Amino acid sequence: MSAESWSPSRWRARPAEQMPVYEDAAALAAAERTLAGYPPLVFAGEARSLTRSLARVAEGEAFLLQGGDCAESFAEFHPDKIRDTFRVLLQMAVVLTFGGGLPVVKVGRMAGQFAKPRSQPMEAVGGQELPSYRGDIINGFDFDVDSRRPDPERMVRAYNQAAASLNLLRAFAQGGYADLHQVHRWTLDFVARSPQGARYEHLAERIDETLQFMAACGVTAETTPQIRETEFYTAHEALLLPYEEALTRVDSTTGDWYDVSAHFLWVGDRTRHPDGAHVEFLSGVGNPLGLKCGPSLDPDTLIRLIDRLNPENIPGRLTLIARMGAGKVAQHLPALVRRVQAEGRTVIWACDPMHGNTVKSSSGFKTRPFDRILAEVEEFFPAVRGEGAYPGGVHFELTGDDVTECTGGAQQISDEALASRYHTACDPRLNAYQALELAFLIAEAMKGAREEQDRARRAAAAAE
Ligand code: PEP
Ligand code: CO
Repeated sequence: MSAESWSPSRWRARPAEQMPVYEDAAALAAAERTLAGYPPLVFAGEARSLTRSLARVAEGEAFLLQGGDCAESFAEFHPDKIRDTFRVLLQMAVVLTFGGGLPVVKVGRMAGQFAKPRSQPMEAVGGQELPSYRGDIINGFDFDVDSRRPDPERMVRAYNQAAASLNLLRAFAQGGYADLHQVHRWTLDFVARSPQGARYEHLAERIDETLQFMAACGVTAETTPQIRETEFYTAHEALLLPYEEALTRVDSTTGDWYDVSAHFLWVGDRTRHPDGAHVEFLSGVGNPLGLKCGPSLDPDTLIRLIDRLNPENIPGRLTLIARMGAGKVAQHLPALVRRVQAEGRTVIWACDPMHGNTVKSSSGFKTRPFDRILAEVEEFFPAVRGEGAYPGGVHFELTGDDVTECTGGAQQISDEALASRYHTACDPRLNAYQALELAFLIAEAMKGAREEQDRARRAAAAAE
């Protein structure tokens, strides 16, 4: 298949999984036309600048932090929620920057993360069977016939919500809200209130000292835009292809196609077939891409997927997001990393410790135990390093709200407590406390690994 023959609608000739069936073809066509006439949400040049930042991650000179909602929803659309999720991502980024001694590339699962793949096409409740909820961009959450019918008008509403969210995120990132001193002050507040805050005090104090030292040297928000502003990118799963196709445009600068619905798009673990519609679609857009890698992915298929998604081996183009589940990383991941290394493919290895660790609580809720999330991250780093590759990023489902969806963490959320603030439209998310706690624990591990590396380097130099 030559790149020349690619077009945004080519996926239509391929088998497409997880796609809704719209009853009203005319209404679908009308919604697609409406979207095709709307302005881009992001610009091709921004997607290219993200690829350049990710190329630094691929080279081991930066770290990727990706996080946000499992599924954004129409009901939960509120400026405070956007602010709080943005805020916890910034706090995590500061902590990780300090731990790893590297810049952190920040990418939100925000402003477009609406469509959900489902394990079951139908859902049964009390003897009634209806189509599963597939995210607000497709159908409604309420369990009744009308809500569950896929409605193409929802795509237009999702676009508008994404546009408004992105507008606010751009203002937060560039308008002074993201000032490093400010972000660190929020984190100090967290440390003071966290039940395990004492454990993080040392790291927080060191960040504080560093900022004071920088200020004394004249590096302040007034003199240095990097202190005041931040780069923040958006991402979602490219699942609902009619929506993505309608937002795919030719970039006037390069003549290449870009999906302007987000900076970064990924293909999910359920739709990543090398000959399937989703891979076909993503193969032709210039955006940086992600590929979810679950335990059923074998090294041969992975190489075929890389051939499709990054045939020119462009650094930063492709992020492999491993989501194996705690206890399964050592069994599945090293073989994939080894093969990619042996074939000389440049990729980013990132860890999604959420999707392989979903369990049903005794109280009946879908949850994820904090300890298992942490355990998968802790297994991921040595598994990638052990094959001589660089563990370059993390991918979380989180929210800035004080929800009770994942059990455990310093707040010790119990099975019974899940019911009190369980708000997710789909999968359980880390709350702001749990997310920041995780960032501190990862930062400690990164710092430990860095010091070990330095010691080994010094010992080698002394022995010469
Ligand atoms: C997700 O990221 O929300 C998701 C469904 O992930 P996966 O495709 O890895 O299951
Ligand atoms: Co999810």
